[in-house]
Amino acid sequence: MNRVPSGIPGLDDLIEGGFPESSSVLLSGGAGTGKSIFCMQYLYYGAKTLNEPGVYITLEEGPHNLWWNTQRFKWDLLPLEQKNLLRIYKFEPAKDNRDDLEEQTARIIEKAKSINAKRLVIDSITAFSFWMNDPAKLRYSVYLLIEELRKLKCTSILTCETDGGKNSVSRFGVEEFLSDGVIQLHFVPPHRSIIVRKMRGTNHDKRVHPWEITEQGVSVNAQEEILWESLKD
Ligand SMILES: Nc1ncnc2c1ncn2[C@@H]1O[C@H](COP(=O)(O)OP(=O)(O)OP(=O)(O)O)[C@@H](O)[C@H]1O
Ligand SMILES: [Mg+2]
Repeated sequence: MNRVPSGIPGLDDLIEGGFPESSSVLLSGGAGTGKSIFCMQYLYYGAKTLNEPGVYITLEEGPHNLWWNTQRFKWDLLPLEQKNLLRIYKFEPAKDNRDDLEEQTARIIEKAKSINAKRLVIDSITAFSFWMNDPAKLRYSVYLLIEELRKLKCTSILTCETDGGKNSVSRFGVEEFLSDGVIQLHFVPPHRSIIVRKMRGTNHDKRVHPWEITEQGVSVNAQEEILWESLKD
């Protein structure tokens, strides 16, 4: 199996070298746990270091957060965009028609195809529910999206907003079954932590590890451990 390096120092040590190629990984966590920064670093690393084209689709967050992060972490995105190695799109669920999730899925696939993306981020999959009120249809659409991305050999991260509790992995209770991997981020002030809950085809690490956001971006401390009991319910 080919592995896709995450670009997050320390993380690949927990997952046998990287994400399984063509997999879709759910990145879940409460507000401000670092989901968006994690995702942009994943794409930036792929584009800058490995020449792998990446697409970032943001659904709810304004581009200002992306811009702040770009400045703080000194990610020079423009040359990558010019070389077709990076594309950032803002989809507006609230403005677009509801109940047209299939159309939105097709739009995402089209964006990925347009630069032959090897990496893709949807931030967040939770906001997909704007387009679909029926949970059964939502499940089917997310399933289809993941299968289409797999066909493109596109390794994807789907962020998921939770209430931040240690046992809440997703919002609708289905996302974690559809995805090939689940990574959970926690923030119990002042400590940030990360745990791999699932990674298909991988003998992944089972412990909670500290991780941090610094001026250099995000990184995982694969040696140190945080007790599960210390996380909030
Ligand atoms: N330069 C920095 N140095 C240290 N920490 C930072 C820096 N920039 C941002 N942060 C931390 O990262 C957090 C935001 O990260 P991010 O936007 O990735 O979170 P998120 O999980 O996507 O949040 P949301 O749920 O709002 O989408 C901030 O609240 C702050 O704690
Ligand atoms: Mg975010």
